[in-house]
Amino acid sequence: MTPALLLEDVSHAFGAVRAVDRLNLGIAPGELVCLLGPSGCGKSTALRIAAGLEDLQSGTVKMGGEVVADAHVNLPPERRGVGLVFQDYALFPHLRVIDNVAFGLQRLPAQRRRERALAVLAQVGMGDYRDAYPHMLSGGQQQRVALARALAPEPKVLLLDEPFSGLDARLRDQVRDETLHVLKGGGTATLMVTHDPEEAMFMADRIALMRSGRIIQDAAPADLYYRPVDAFSAGFFSQVNQFTATVRDGCVATLFGPLTAPNLPDGAAVDVLIRPEALRLTRAGQAEEAAGEGKPVLHVIASRMLGRTSLVHLRADDPQNGRLHLHSRMPGWFLPGEGEALGVELDRSQAFVFPVESLK
Ligand SMILES: Nc1ncnc2c1ncn2[C@@H]1O[C@H](COP(=O)(O)OP(=O)(O)OP(=O)(O)O)[C@@H](O)[C@H]1O
Ligand SMILES: [Mg+2]
Repeated sequence: MTPALLLEDVSHAFGAVRAVDRLNLGIAPGELVCLLGPSGCGKSTALRIAAGLEDLQSGTVKMGGEVVADAHVNLPPERRGVGLVFQDYALFPHLRVIDNVAFGLQRLPAQRRRERALAVLAQVGMGDYRDAYPHMLSGGQQQRVALARALAPEPKVLLLDEPFSGLDARLRDQVRDETLHVLKGGGTATLMVTHDPEEAMFMADRIALMRSGRIIQDAAPADLYYRPVDAFSAGFFSQVNQFTATVRDGCVATLFGPLTAPNLPDGAAVDVLIRPEALRLTRAGQAEEAAGEGKPVLHVIASRMLGRTSLVHLRADDPQNGRLHLHSRMPGWFLPGEGEALGVELDRSQAFVFPVESLK
C-alpha cells in the first residue's frame, strides 16, 4: 500500500548539531505511529520537516506517493493536507471554539463549515462548548478542541507533537484514551511524537524508537518490549537490572542459570539486562528448598506497594559480579519483610544479552 507519509533518507543539521540523521519512516493510511525517544534526539525536527515547518536539507518527503519536499520541490504546510497538534494547543484566543474549528474550512460554504465543525466537536465530546472562548476551557478541553481543529479539514496525515504533555496525569489518561478512539475510528494516518514509552505503547500501532537523530528500531510495541535490538532499546521501556558477564560456548552463566548468547564469540563481554517483572519471587519455604538445590537465594532490602504491582529491592551474592542490587516487580500485593530470604525464577523472555557497548 502507498504510505500516507514517507520520509526517505532525511537528514537535518542545525550548525554542527546533526538533529536528524538519515531517517527513514513510512506510515500507512489509518496507521498510528509513535516517534519515541529521549529529549533532544530529533523527534520534533523530523515532525516539523514532515509538516513543512522546517525546510528540508536532504532526503525526500512523500505524501500518498507524491513528493512534497525534495531538492526541487517544497510544498508549504497548508498545501500538504496535514493536521497539526502541538503541546501548547495554540487555539486562537479571540475566536469561539466553533470558529477555531471552522478556521481551516474556508473552502466550504458557510453552512457546510458550521456543520462540519459541529460534527468534529461532537466527535471529541466538546459540542456543548461551541460558543465558549479558549480561556474558558480547561487544558484537557483545549486539547480536544485543538484535535478537532486539526481533524476538521479531513487531513490525510495528522502530526501530533507531545499533545498530552501539558495535562496532569489523570486527565492525560482520559484524553489519550478519547484521542485513540477518535483516531482509530477515522482513517487518518497519524505520526505522534512522545518521549514517554508508556504513552507510545498505549497509543501506537507501531513505534519508531529514535536515538541521536536515527531510528534504531521500528516495530510493533510488543516487539520492542520483548525483542529489543540493543541495551538502549531494552532500557528505554522500563528500568532494568543490569550486570556484566562473559560468553562461553554460546552461553552466559548467570546467577539465574545460563542464558543463550547466539553469534557471540567465546570471551566476549556482554551486558545482561533483566526486566524487574522477569524476576519472579517465591516465598521462604521455597527459598530454603532452592538453596538446597543450589538455586539462587535473594535477600530483601525493602519492598514497596506501587498500586498494580509491588517493587522489591533485593541483594544477591553473585560469584562473578560480587554483591548485586536487584529489583523485582511482582503483580498486586507482595511485600516480604526486610532481610527475608526468597527464591526466584527467571522469565527468560524478558532477559536480554547484548555485547558491551563501546562508549558512545
Ligand atoms: N531551531 C533550532 N536551532 C538550533 N538547534 C536546534 C533547533 N531546533 C532543534 N535544535 C537541536 O536539534 C536537536 C534535536 O531537537 P528536537 O527538538 O528535534 O528534539 P526532540 O527529540 O523533539 O526533543 P524534546 O523531547 O526535548 O522535545 C537538539 O540538539 C536541539 O537542541
Ligand atoms: Mg520535541
